[in-house]
Amino acid sequence: MSLPLADRRILLVIGGGIAAYKALDLIRRLRERGAGVCPVLTRGAQEFVTPLAAAALAGERAHTDLFDRAEEADIGHIKLARRADAVVVAPATANLMARMATGHAPDLASTVLLATTLPILIAPAMNVRMWAHPATQRNLATLTGDGVRVVGPNTGAMAEAETGPGRMAEPHEIADALEEMLGTGTGGIGFLAGRGRAGPLAGRRVLVTSGPTHEPIDPVRYLANRSSGRQGHAIAAAAATAGAEVTLVSGPVTIPDPPGVRVVRVETARAMLAAVEAALPADLAVFAAAVADWRPAAEQGSKIKKDGSAPPALQLAENPDILATVAGMRAGRPRLVVGFAAETDAVLEHARAKLARKGCDLLVANDVSPAGGVMGGAANTVHLLARDGSVETWPTLDKDEVGRRLVARFAQVLGAG
Ligand code: CTP
Repeated sequence: MSLPLADRRILLVIGGGIAAYKALDLIRRLRERGAGVCPVLTRGAQEFVTPLAAAALAGERAHTDLFDRAEEADIGHIKLARRADAVVVAPATANLMARMATGHAPDLASTVLLATTLPILIAPAMNVRMWAHPATQRNLATLTGDGVRVVGPNTGAMAEAETGPGRMAEPHEIADALEEMLGTGTGGIGFLAGRGRAGPLAGRRVLVTSGPTHEPIDPVRYLANRSSGRQGHAIAAAAATAGAEVTLVSGPVTIPDPPGVRVVRVETARAMLAAVEAALPADLAVFAAAVADWRPAAEQGSKIKKDGSAPPALQLAENPDILATVAGMRAGRPRLVVGFAAETDAVLEHARAKLARKGCDLLVANDVSPAGGVMGGAANTVHLLARDGSVETWPTLDKDEVGRRLVARFAQVLGAG
């Protein structure tokens, strides 16, 4: 049997905390599972472990300096950021997380993290109070919003004789989380569709729409909206983690694809409808996309020029309603159809009307007024409405958490039906 991480190369960024000693054990664990490990140590990490120890265990050179001339000539930090299958940051200190969240890159480790497009897994480790601090929690929300995976921290006794969350996950837990992220483990979520997955949505097919649509006016201009795609992507990620086989139909977004999900990229509402129809059948369909209601009636083949006369009038045509189309299907309708409603005022009133008008089973109403959580932001304040008239209002939560809680509810409804 081949090893779960055979032929995988892992860039291991070791941060400067007492848990750095466990990073040495992590190198061994990763190599036992077949991975090649390239260690990068921050200056802080070198106060706790030496590059020599990391290199000896990895069986290859450990990297430390951004401005090491020999190193740059040899491979350079950009290549370092590319020549692997994943990046693991362990321990991820509060400082390193802050640098990652803000894109501040004063050293080799943070430069590599900024330059990489590889999947990233972080194993936070810090003092309990530092972990609980709103700044760290904000950075965590930013990082997860950027698609970074997190393992731990665990709760337990800490170096400073305090107890609480902050201990770095154990090396075997980090290795398991990495396998899950890469889809190489036996119970892992996999980048491809869900063979052999476990979880409350195991064996279910899930379709999610996400992001805005772009409706072209001419070759250089389009109509769009402020949707970031974060909420839809978070739902798709949570559904994959729950064991589902997920197709995500996404409009143009700048956030990374969620792991373990089949992603179909589209631009316009009409293309989104076609991709949704092609992705059916599904057990659950969640329409989180902010589909443009209208498109320019005629797309100009060449750029509209100012010609000194009045500004051009934009004639609009209505786009197909994707949610209403699927919710109204006579044959092959998904068992659970969930709509979203982004409202700025009279949220519940509009949401109730929308639930009935669209014909969906559940409606997630989110308040996109400045007080509720501006559209495109990291947090969301949602109300969950059901056809029987019930309404649940949730506290303002990080969109990943909203995604996880929604998926847990959908699984409950599907399980009960
Ligand atoms: N939706 C859709 N296709 C459209 C418009 C909306 O699938 N052409 C879906 C969205 O994904 C969302 C729900 O319908 O799940 C509600 O979207 P929203 O824009 O709030 O509703 P509208 O019908 O456009 O209502 P209004 O703009 O009048 O509030």
